Amino acid sequence: MTTVADGGLPAACVFDAYGTLFDVAGPVERRAATLGDHAARLVTLWRDKQLQYTWLRSLEGRYVDFERVTADALDFALESLGLDDCALRDDLLRQYHALPAFADVKPALSHLRAAGIRALILSNGSPAMLQSAVTAAGLAPYFDDILSVDSVRVFKTDPRVYRLAVDAIGVEAGRIAFVSANGWDACAGAAFGFRSFWCNRSGQPRERLPGRPEGEVRSLASLADVLDVNRRKAPSR
Ligand code: LAC
Repeated sequence: MTTVADGGLPAACVFDAYGTLFDVAGPVERRAATLGDHAARLVTLWRDKQLQYTWLRSLEGRYVDFERVTADALDFALESLGLDDCALRDDLLRQYHALPAFADVKPALSHLRAAGIRALILSNGSPAMLQSAVTAAGLAPYFDDILSVDSVRVFKTDPRVYRLAVDAIGVEAGRIAFVSANGWDACAGAAFGFRSFWCNRSGQPRERLPGRPEGEVRSLASLADVLDVNRRKAPSR
């Protein structure tokens, strides 16, 4: 675990959503009995294709919202695996609106709240998807704001997305902690100027991309320590 060396708490902590707060494997795991050997492959293929489509659509300047991207990616993944099942497709997409939160999320958010640090979400998700997932997981009381790329109609890692957090919080990027389990997102956040922290849940190698996260943790249980929230006083809002 890398700890914060310089002074002061961040004014706010901005979280990525999918993979960081919410477990995107949840819907497929709930259908594991139906999917059998296909389950693990479907999780990976669906997620990889979903992210590829966000990047490709951003390069092409052809934005559609994350709900559509998620459905398109699922259709590609199901067809790749020879799974032709409309009821399964509809169920998996429905479950995406109520993804399980990782067990370390609520305790980490409670620590931040107790330390007086604002918490926000900054995500590729559409406003409706994010709102329903946050509500379903009982996380609504912990967040001051939910920011969606939908307002700039381009996906991460376009800097206009990260700028949304600066504008919403009203402090410079260097006073904002950004937390993502997606290594590429944590790098881009660091390159943008955030104090970026990579929640490397699955022990991935570091991305060879611009931007170096200030800290790396294996779970959000270590976030309070890495930010040193228990020993430092929160700045005035
Ligand atoms: C998000 C994706 C990157 O929530 O997980 O923005």
